[in-house]
Amino acid sequence: MAKAVDKGLVRYKVIDIRDFALDRHRTCDDAPYGGGPGMILKPEPLAAALDAASACGKRVVYPTPSGRLFNAAYAEELVKQDEVVLICGRYEGIDQRIIDLYVTDEVSLGDYVLSSGELASLVIVDTVYRLLDGVIRKESLEEESFTQGLLEYPQYTRPEIFRGMKVPEILLSGHHAHIERWKREKSLEKTRRFRPELLGERNEEQKEG
Ligand code: ADE
Repeated sequence: MAKAVDKGLVRYKVIDIRDFALDRHRTCDDAPYGGGPGMILKPEPLAAALDAASACGKRVVYPTPSGRLFNAAYAEELVKQDEVVLICGRYEGIDQRIIDLYVTDEVSLGDYVLSSGELASLVIVDTVYRLLDGVIRKESLEEESFTQGLLEYPQYTRPEIFRGMKVPEILLSGHHAHIERWKREKSLEKTRRFRPELLGERNEEQKEG
């Protein structure tokens, strides 16, 4: 990310919600109406912070376990935006009126709960910025997991024999077509083993497209 910033490919600005609190204690959270555990980020400081980011009219992403699932296809969608605003939630979440007024995308990283929206936002930032032209070699992106709806095949590097384990012969053969076929078979094998549902999704897409 630092290199991409140095090259002028990405710019970012961090806004501290506390700078927009209305009291001298810089309070940004309060108990939920209707009861329940934890604290909720208050709407006024968050709205002022979002206004300072000129959030209206931009893609405003709020990472939350109750959002749509984040994936490579969605990252491809985000990278097309000139600007993205990310809200780092804390505690039990943010006031729903902020979501209604500002948030365009509620996004979940997976079926687990992180304590920090910062961490979730950084995962999204990291996944998206590397898709920008000039950050990573195009071939690397084309080969990696999910770009073709499959998990990536196993990779090997030197030495040819490590602790008695040999690199698959085919990768040393220099036979390009055979190597490509091997990679594809291994990708399918791995996807079938770890993420069989991806194969179903791919078949659906192929039918539609
Ligand atoms: N914030 C806390 N947990 C999260 C999750 N699973 N995904 C996105 N944001 C979160």
